[in-house]
Amino acid sequence: MDDALFASLFAAVDARPDDADLRTQVAQLLLDRGRPAEALQHAAVALQHAPGHAAALTVLTQASAALRPAAGASEPPAAGGNEQPAAPAAPPSREDAPAEGFDWAHAEQQLGGSAMPPPFVDSSQQEAPPIVPGGEPEADADAEIERPSITLDDVGGLQDVKQRLRESFLEPMRHPEVAAAFGKSLRGGLILYGPPGCGKTFIARAVAGELGAHFITVSLADVLGPHLGETEQKLHALFTTARRLAPAVLFLDEIDAIGARRSGISGGWSGLRLMVNQLLMEMDSMTADNDGLFVLAATNAPWDVDPALLRPGRFDRMTLVLPPDEPAREAILQHHFARRPIAGIDLQAVVRATEDFSGADLEHVVVSAAEQAMARSVKAGRIEPIGMDDVRHALRQVKPSTGSWLVSAKNVAAFANTDGRYDDLVAYLKRRRAL
Ligand SMILES: Nc1ncnc2c1ncn2[C@@H]1O[C@H](COP(=O)(O)OP(=O)(O)OP(=O)(O)O)[C@@H](O)[C@H]1O
Ligand SMILES: [Mg+2]
Repeated sequence: MDDALFASLFAAVDARPDDADLRTQVAQLLLDRGRPAEALQHAAVALQHAPGHAAALTVLTQASAALRPAAGASEPPAAGGNEQPAAPAAPPSREDAPAEGFDWAHAEQQLGGSAMPPPFVDSSQQEAPPIVPGGEPEADADAEIERPSITLDDVGGLQDVKQRLRESFLEPMRHPEVAAAFGKSLRGGLILYGPPGCGKTFIARAVAGELGAHFITVSLADVLGPHLGETEQKLHALFTTARRLAPAVLFLDEIDAIGARRSGISGGWSGLRLMVNQLLMEMDSMTADNDGLFVLAATNAPWDVDPALLRPGRFDRMTLVLPPDEPAREAILQHHFARRPIAGIDLQAVVRATEDFSGADLEHVVVSAAEQAMARSVKAGRIEPIGMDDVRHALRQVKPSTGSWLVSAKNVAAFANTDGRYDDLVAYLKRRRAL
């Protein structure tokens, strides 16, 4: 009986995911029917949409109380329901919960699977486990292969970068005949550069998602082998795999790092030359061999990248990925808050207080605030949602990590921008009055 009722209620919630009142009512009903774990999830999601929603908060508190192991001993009256005695409505594995206090592991598990799956990286990995291509064994031992489900719409803010990627990369790739008519070469690749933790890898995955392509990540430093010819063989195998999986985005991460490995490989500099040559050869044959292979690279330090790679027809386009702007910070914060109980969070205030924070820094802020709220909850014996006080506390502890990058970038912009390659960077630094 309940099943049918809840099926239509869940359908209603799915149709209006932002409706906090509706969701709270569903949460209340779930709680009444002895399903506190699900009630907790829905109340938490309602609070994301309506921070401070009093009824949702009440349900959340009651649900968390019902989930406490102590309450489990005398199982809530309706648990399992009379109609379905066998239904496993109660949370499993209580044995590993402490005798008193809240079962955090279980609650986290419940919240983690909340009705709104995170739209970012993790969700796609869950949906599509890495594909291990058959054929050439060892060939791609150093590559990670997946099929991202995120698109550029999942990348918060950064309108300029997205626009540029669409115009200079995605559109020509999607319409090779138009590109050819205008003499635009599809050869070569694009480098994303900028401070750490600001979304380069994330954006590259989103590009693969846009194209419905496989995403193959490889660190060139890992491809370098000590034996003669090994590096070239590995690279060739990698490109062969990528072509077989086309459409595919081959993502060369940290391409500056190959410089650091020069001395470690046989033949030193010449070994590196061979690799760069092989890489260029593979890229040059791309249009002939395969229309569906796109090469993207990322680095924090483009000024350390081998100049041979940057010549026209090679990685000749560079896009600066800056610390997230306000819309991007909002999207990132929302994503991280989304899986946690919150109340009274003034998202805009947090957004304003986090200029220059990288995506990774923002995550750190939310995690620190959550830790503080958790500690309080353990003391109180019930879930106390993350509030602004927790966030303020976290903000006092976490400082933006992009500062040192900006210092080195400033030097390059001041002295090494002879060919205009870093015009974007110069413009940005001027806007910030850092130059
Ligand atoms: N604009 C954005 N929109 C949404 N999420 C973002 C954005 N920028 C960063 N993130 C989040 O921040 C995390 C870190 O970003 P990412 O790993 O892509 O940075 P990176 O620039 O590749 O860093 P590194 O230079 O250290 O490799 C991502 O997993 C993503 O969740
Ligand atoms: Mg990265």
